[in-house]
Amino acid sequence: MVFKGFIILLLSILISIFDSLTQTAQWEFPEDFKFGVATSAYQIEGGWDEDGKTTSVWDRITHQTPAFIADQSSGDVACDSYHQWERDVEMLKELGVQYYRFSLAWTRILSGAYTSTVNQAGVKYYNNLIDKLIENGIEPVVTLYHWDMPQKISTLGGLTNDAWVKFFSHYARTAFELFGDRVKIWITFNEPNIICHYFNSVLGSGQPAYPNGVIEYLCSYNLLKAHAEAYHIYNREFRHKQGGKIGITLNFEWAEPATDKPEDVEAAERRRQFDFGIFANPIINFDYPKVVIDRVAKRSELEDFPESRLQKFTFAEKLNVKGTYDFLGLNHYTTWLVSNGDEASLEQSSFYIDTKVSRVQDDSWNTTGAEDNRVVPWGLRKALNWIKSTYGNPDVLITECGYSDRIGNLDDNQRINFYRDYLNATLQAILEDGVNVKAFMAWSLMDNFEWNQGYLVKFGLYHVDFNDPKRVRTMKDSAKYYQKIIVTRRLD
Ligand code: NOJ
Repeated sequence: MVFKGFIILLLSILISIFDSLTQTAQWEFPEDFKFGVATSAYQIEGGWDEDGKTTSVWDRITHQTPAFIADQSSGDVACDSYHQWERDVEMLKELGVQYYRFSLAWTRILSGAYTSTVNQAGVKYYNNLIDKLIENGIEPVVTLYHWDMPQKISTLGGLTNDAWVKFFSHYARTAFELFGDRVKIWITFNEPNIICHYFNSVLGSGQPAYPNGVIEYLCSYNLLKAHAEAYHIYNREFRHKQGGKIGITLNFEWAEPATDKPEDVEAAERRRQFDFGIFANPIINFDYPKVVIDRVAKRSELEDFPESRLQKFTFAEKLNVKGTYDFLGLNHYTTWLVSNGDEASLEQSSFYIDTKVSRVQDDSWNTTGAEDNRVVPWGLRKALNWIKSTYGNPDVLITECGYSDRIGNLDDNQRINFYRDYLNATLQAILEDGVNVKAFMAWSLMDNFEWNQGYLVKFGLYHVDFNDPKRVRTMKDSAKYYQKIIVTRRLD
């Protein structure tokens, strides 16, 4: 009897050890999951006019209107990656990442008044970088357009001129031809809604800042057509010999209803559709989301426009845009509480007014040291689940996620906590909710030029000394933490 009891006890101990071992094994990032870091050309490269590079809209605005940038700086030198790129690769190696997401500067690769001539020096720079990455077992993830539009093209109206589609197609084809033998993951655009809706005057239309509710939609319409064109070019001319993948990166701040009143629940969903669905729906499902179509039509009518300000697709265009993705890139930073807004004065029109929402962040959520980006990891999990249910669970690459501060301290525990919690939310989405998340790329490899915040806001895993001509880089504690996660593929 005693012996039987002993055997049962032993068996149950063995079973619980086995259980906990298998559970532990399961609470790991799946084998095919990739870790990476991200940067973009204008934010790190410098060398703004070296070796035949032409002027971009950021060269122009930082030189002509320094007050546009909080510290009146520019990306003229930035992290000097144009010269320090080998050090960048050393850092990537040190971190142990599988992916490095960076962008190509259109103005470095194509020169001439309207970007029709290949600039060999620029090509050489990217060839060197790409070759070195591959030599070190790091896969390049390349963004074609991360906001640095050639200035000349911007003077033609930028994305509000449909000639842009041709310019971009030529650039995309050139990039596939030059680098597609080694680059297997392409991203056409970074954050179209920032380009067209929130930062349109600089990034999208080349027009002075006057949101008028027309140019924003013209911009997104042409952007979607340019994206689709690049996808089809890749599909028709390159995929069979290069075998890569191509997608787009959309940013998505999760919109949580501020209350459970139906009008707030609706408002949160409307905001998601205006921010994310307006691009994802035409690409994955079909046409703009119905709520966007209806709302812009209604508001345009109230404003006495003869027809909706939303630039409509023809049926053929809808078909052409549909299905133009192999994966969805997601940039995610924070979450908002969204309520139904009042109808704004009919004197004005803008994309933002069309959304008819107001939003706040909860005071109890941890702030980041720099911006509105409060730390809300569950928002990432909800965003991923919403993408899964709204778009049939596509493959998602998290192409950016990160924490900003203004101090740039090396003992950045605040950033460690951020990554721990957002990576945990990612893991929950994968393992518990079955979302197809395939990668996580931290923003950013190093402190860099944070657009209109200049160098005041820092997102880096590595500190950069912007006073040193060599732009010396130093590992922060968060980099060591990320390094450890990449090795163990699990969170503590
Ligand atoms: C998204 C943008 O893609 C990137 O360029 C920027 O630096 C980060 N957000 C942080 O604001």
